[in-house]
Amino acid sequence: MKLFDVYPINHINIVKGVGSLVYDDKGTEYLDLYGGHAVISIGHTHPHYVKRLEDQLHRIGFYSNSVEIPLQTELAEKLGHVSGKEDYQLFLCNSGAEANENALKLASFHKGKKKVIAFRKSFHGRTSLAVAATDNPKIVAPVNATDNIIFLPWNDEVALEQAFEGNDISSVIIEGIQGVGGINVASESFLRKIRSLCDAHNAVFIADSVQCGYGRTGKFFSHDFAGVKADIYSMAKGMGNGFPIGGIIISPKIQPSYGMLGTTFGGNHLACAAGLAVLETIEQENLIQNAGEVGSYLIGELKKFEQVKEVRGRGLMIGIDLPEELAHARKELLQKHHIFTGEAKPNVIRLLPALNLTKAHADRFLEAFSTVLNHSTVTQ
Ligand SMILES: Cc1ncc(COP(=O)(O)O)c(C=O)c1O
Repeated sequence: MKLFDVYPINHINIVKGVGSLVYDDKGTEYLDLYGGHAVISIGHTHPHYVKRLEDQLHRIGFYSNSVEIPLQTELAEKLGHVSGKEDYQLFLCNSGAEANENALKLASFHKGKKKVIAFRKSFHGRTSLAVAATDNPKIVAPVNATDNIIFLPWNDEVALEQAFEGNDISSVIIEGIQGVGGINVASESFLRKIRSLCDAHNAVFIADSVQCGYGRTGKFFSHDFAGVKADIYSMAKGMGNGFPIGGIIISPKIQPSYGMLGTTFGGNHLACAAGLAVLETIEQENLIQNAGEVGSYLIGELKKFEQVKEVRGRGLMIGIDLPEELAHARKELLQKHHIFTGEAKPNVIRLLPALNLTKAHADRFLEAFSTVLNHSTVTQ
C-alpha cells in the first residue's frame, strides 16, 4: 500500500527533538521555528512531559467517557486557572477542526439558529461545518457547501453591523490572529464590536484559538487583548505538545444536556496527561511571559530589515511579509541554514516556535535571516 499523497513535503526525516532543536536521520541539527505547525508549545521531549506521559501509560492509556476520568476534572481546573476562565466548562475532543465543529454546533443548539458569520482568509479546519466556515473554496467539497455561512471582510465593523441587521445570526467565529490566512491580527475594537453585536442580537461569540491560543501571543488567548470574553474558545495545537487533543471551553451561560456532544477518544487518560504536562510547564516556567518577551524582541528586530514589506503578529506568532523577489527566503533558511519556518501564501514566512524559545535561538534565526536577505545565492 502507498500513502495517499496529499502533502507537498520536505524530504527530511526528523528522528529526534530537544527543546527548539530537531535532528534528522543523518544527524543534521535544525532550529525549529515552526513547531510542527504551532503544535510544539513546551519544546520537543520536555522532561516533565515525557515523564507524565510515561507514568500514565504504565497505569492506563485509555478508557471511554462512560466512566469517571478524574484527569479530565484536573485538566479543566488547571486550564481554568491558567487561562483565567475559571467559570467556563470544558469539552474535550481530538483536533482543531473538531473543536470548531463542536463550537459551531453548540452555538446553533443553544440559540436555535443557523447563520454563521466568518471572515475572509479564515481557516477553521476540514470537517464539514468548520470547512464551510473556512475561506478556501478548494477544500470545500460539494457535500460541505452550505449557504449558512456569511463571509465578511476582516476588521470591517460596518460590514459586521450590516450582516447582523439583515440575518438571524447564530454565531460569529473568528481567529484572534489569522494563521493560515497570513498572520492578520484582529483589531481590539473589532473584537469588542463582535462582543457587543452578539449580545445585542442574541448570538454566540466563538474565539478560534486553535493556533493563536495557549499562550502563544503573550496572553493565554489572543482575543484577551481586547478585554472582552468570548462565549466559546476552541483550542488544539499547543494543547498537547504533539499529543492529539483539542477542546472547547464554554461560558456558564450555555447549559449542557446528555448526548448533545460526544466523542470516543476525546479526553482519554493519555491525552489528559499530555494536556496537564503542558499547562504545568507553561505555569512553572512562565512560558506565556517568555512568548511575549522573546516575541516582542523578534518582532522589533525584524521590523529593522528594510527589505521586509511588513511584520505582523504578537508574541511568538509572527508573519514576515516579503516581496516577490525574496520568495525563496524560506527555502534558503531551511536548506542552507537548517531553520524550519512556516509559510502563508503568497510570500509570508510564519514563525510559530515553542513558547520557551530562547533569545539565543531568536538571534541565531535573525543572523541567518540577515544573511538570506543580504547575500542571497539560491536560484529557484
Ligand atoms: C485557526 C485554526 N483553526 C482550526 C484548525 C484546524 O485544526 P486541525 O488541523 O487540528 O483540525 C487550524 C489548523 O491549522 C487552525 O489554524
